[in-house]
Amino acid sequence: MKKILVIGSGGREHAICEQFRKSTKLDQIFCLPGNAGISEIAQIVDGIKIDEHQKIIDFCQKNKIDFVFVGPEQPLVAGLVDDLEKVGIRVFGPNKNAAQLEGSKIFMKKIVSENGVPTAAYETFTDEKSATEFAKKLGFPCVIKTDGLAAGKGVIIPQNFEEAEAAIKEVFAGKFGAAGNKIIIEEFLDGFEASYFVLCDGKNFVPLGFAHDHKRVGDNDTGPNTGGMGTYAPSPFIDKKLEEEIIEKIIRPSLRGIEFRGILFAGLMIGSKGPKLLEYNVRFGDPETQVILPRIKTDFIDLIEAAIEGRLNEIKVEFDEEKKLVCVVMCAKGYPENYEKGTEIKGLEKISEAKILHAGTLKKDGKILANGGRVLNIVAEANSFESARNKAYEAIAKIDWKEGFCRKDIGLKASFEKGGGA
Ligand SMILES: Nc1ncnc2c1ncn2[C@@H]1O[C@H](COP(=O)(O)OP(=O)(O)O)[C@@H](O)[C@H]1O
Ligand SMILES: [Mg+2]
Repeated sequence: MKKILVIGSGGREHAICEQFRKSTKLDQIFCLPGNAGISEIAQIVDGIKIDEHQKIIDFCQKNKIDFVFVGPEQPLVAGLVDDLEKVGIRVFGPNKNAAQLEGSKIFMKKIVSENGVPTAAYETFTDEKSATEFAKKLGFPCVIKTDGLAAGKGVIIPQNFEEAEAAIKEVFAGKFGAAGNKIIIEEFLDGFEASYFVLCDGKNFVPLGFAHDHKRVGDNDTGPNTGGMGTYAPSPFIDKKLEEEIIEKIIRPSLRGIEFRGILFAGLMIGSKGPKLLEYNVRFGDPETQVILPRIKTDFIDLIEAAIEGRLNEIKVEFDEEKKLVCVVMCAKGYPENYEKGTEIKGLEKISEAKILHAGTLKKDGKILANGGRVLNIVAEANSFESARNKAYEAIAKIDWKEGFCRKDIGLKASFEKGGGA
């Protein structure tokens, strides 16, 4: 029976804890730092911060943790996996070097280009003048990306020269700190986006499926970008043949370029000239995980331990093929700009048609309080997208939280597609 430590505090980590809970091999889950929802199913670890690696090591040794699962990118990029492995603690996630696939867009572009992966043509820059000249030459729209982690805000798509010039100036003036010391300028790709998740053990890999995200804050993809307002899975737009093409042209050649153990999350643009890689992330997506994991039938502890031990070739991952999932994110009004914390959320106990996964929540005196921008994930499943969507929004109607909001069109496109409404 296994004791697991999950690192992170989002809806993603709540979904990960739920998936471990389904395993027959689970003894206990600990979560650092967790949230109000996670505290119902896992033991919250108090008094340790995510960047205090030595304290995490001490905790694992004292509590005889069988393995650690690292949810978010920051600790991976900071080398938490390397530090745990050095003292013999088993951990799931890429090491510091492999995490550079997400931590440095220039590192990622170099590896994939060297291995023939289709991706946007690009150049890298460290000064304003040559960057601006290149943008002019490339034409508009083009895409400007900071090299380092910028919490999803480091990508700018200028529509004309003036916007490009202003954006490049701001980035080199330090708007994104050191993340913007180097930048990429790349060609703009047309098409539709998809997120693909692949479980890797350093030698073998197994696909976990596609999801589609809704990044803009407003209905019909309007307003500023966010961390993600909702997702659905599987993809009604990607068939087996296209998946094979993505594996053979993108995933397999990329993994020839780097030894990677963990979740490889490919951000894809599917256009008329076939699939192209936009970026890699080195962990599960949030809120994609919430709709990816419930379709996996294989015991999650078996799966993650096989990945840690380099035995994914011995395991067959089974999916609930019929299951369609929709996840709607509820946010505090004002998000992604300024929003209020500490408002009370009521009515969650009345919900039975969907699962509530917590993100930015806090439990205080028995009350559930909003404690972040993205606050709750309402996850519903059914055998059609249309009924999954209906269930999610029926559940939301029961939530008494006037300071919250959500998009009303999550999964709507999928409802009209094959595999959608029955
Ligand atoms: N070459 C491109 N062409 C068109 N759109 C792009 C391109 N690169 C990025 N984007 C858009 O910008 C978003 C963010 O870019 P991405 O590379 O995923 O960086 P990050 O997630 O780190 O912000 C993408 O989801 C996509 O909508
Ligand atoms: Mg992205």
